[in-house]
Amino acid sequence: HAADAHRTDLMTITRYVLNEQSKHPESRGDFTILLSHIVLGCKFVCTAVNKAGLAKLIGLAGETNVQGEEQKKLDVLSNEVFIKALVSSGRTCILVSEEDEEATFVEPALRGKYCVVFDPLDGSSNIDCGVSIGTIFGIYAIKDGVDPKIEDVLQPGKNMVAAGYCMYGSSCTLVLSTGKGVNGFTLDPSLGEFILTHPDIKIPKKGKIYSVNEGNAKNWDGPTAKYVEKCKYPQDGLPAKSLRYIGSMVADVHRTLLYGGIFLYPADKKSPNGKLRVLYEVFPMSYLMEQAGGQAFTGKQRALDLLPTKIHERSPIFLGSYDDVEEIKALYAAEG
Ligand code: AHG
Ligand code: MN
Ligand code: MN
Ligand code: MN
Repeated sequence: HAADAHRTDLMTITRYVLNEQSKHPESRGDFTILLSHIVLGCKFVCTAVNKAGLAKLIGLAGETNVQGEEQKKLDVLSNEVFIKALVSSGRTCILVSEEDEEATFVEPALRGKYCVVFDPLDGSSNIDCGVSIGTIFGIYAIKDGVDPKIEDVLQPGKNMVAAGYCMYGSSCTLVLSTGKGVNGFTLDPSLGEFILTHPDIKIPKKGKIYSVNEGNAKNWDGPTAKYVEKCKYPQDGLPAKSLRYIGSMVADVHRTLLYGGIFLYPADKKSPNGKLRVLYEVFPMSYLMEQAGGQAFTGKQRALDLLPTKIHERSPIFLGSYDDVEEIKALYAAEG
C-alpha cells in the first residue's frame, strides 16, 4: 500500500509508557520520567559501543586519549553514565550495579520511590570483537513515605514492577515489560527515538535451539548433562536442536525470546551457583520470559520466587520456551 510507505504515526517508547500510565489516574508520571533516564543511558552506551573500535584513535576508551587524560573502559564508563542518569532522574532511592561492590543510596534531596538493579554492560568479553552486548535492568518500588533499606532490593524477582534490556547489536533494541506483556522498541538513529517495532512479544511454545557454554560439560550435574544429550540425540525420531551460543546473555536471551528454545547457565562442580547474578541478570530475564509466555527455572524452583540474601548473589538458570523448560524441570524432579 503506497500510503504505508511512510509511517506518520510513531509509537515512541515514551508515548507507549505514557499511554499505559494514563490507565492509572493516580499515576504522577514518575515511572515515565525514570524510564526516560534509563533510555538516555542506553542511547549513550549505544553511541559509545558503535565507536568502540575507533577508541584508540579518538580516545574513547583504552589508556590515554589525545589530551593525555586517563580513559575509562567501556563498562566502567557505562556504569557511571547510568548511575548519574538514574540519580538525576530524582525518582530512585537504591541502585545496584554489577560494577559496584556496594549498593548506592541516593541522597534524600534527590530521592524517589524506585530501586533499580542493573548490569550496565553485559557481555564485556565480546566488546573488542564487535559482537552484540547489552544493558539489563530491573525495577522495584518502595512504599511511599518509608526510608529505603537494602531489603527493598533483596526481594524475589516476581515483585519487580518492570524489567528490560537494551541490546547493542546490528540495531539497538530495547525490550521492556511493566508486567503486562513484553514489547520491543528499535532505536531510529535519525530520530534518536525508540520506536515500537515488536508489539506483544510471545515466545514460541517450543523451540529448535539450545544455548549453553558446552566447554563446562565435564563439570555438569546429571540432569543438565542428560538434557543437553537429549538436545543432540533426541529419542522417537525427533529432530536434534541447533546450538547457538554468543556468550552475551542479552544476545542469547533476545534470540531465545524471538525464535524460541532454551538458554541455560547451569551449576557445575567449579561454580555450584552457576555464573549469572540473581538481581540484575537472572531476575530481569526471567521476568521477561514469563511475561512472554515462557518459563525460568533454577534447577530447584521458579526463578522469580528466589529470595536473594546478597546483592551480587548468583544462581543457575534455565529459561526459554514453555515446553523446553518443562523438560528440564522433569529431569531435575526425577533426580529428586
Ligand atoms: P558480564 O560481561 O556482565 O560480566 O556478564 C557476562 C556473562 C553473560 O553475559 C554471559 O551469558 C556469560 O557471562 C558468559 O559466560 P561464559 O563465558 O562462562 O560462557
Ligand atoms: Mn552480565
Ligand atoms: Mn556487566
Ligand atoms: Mn563483569
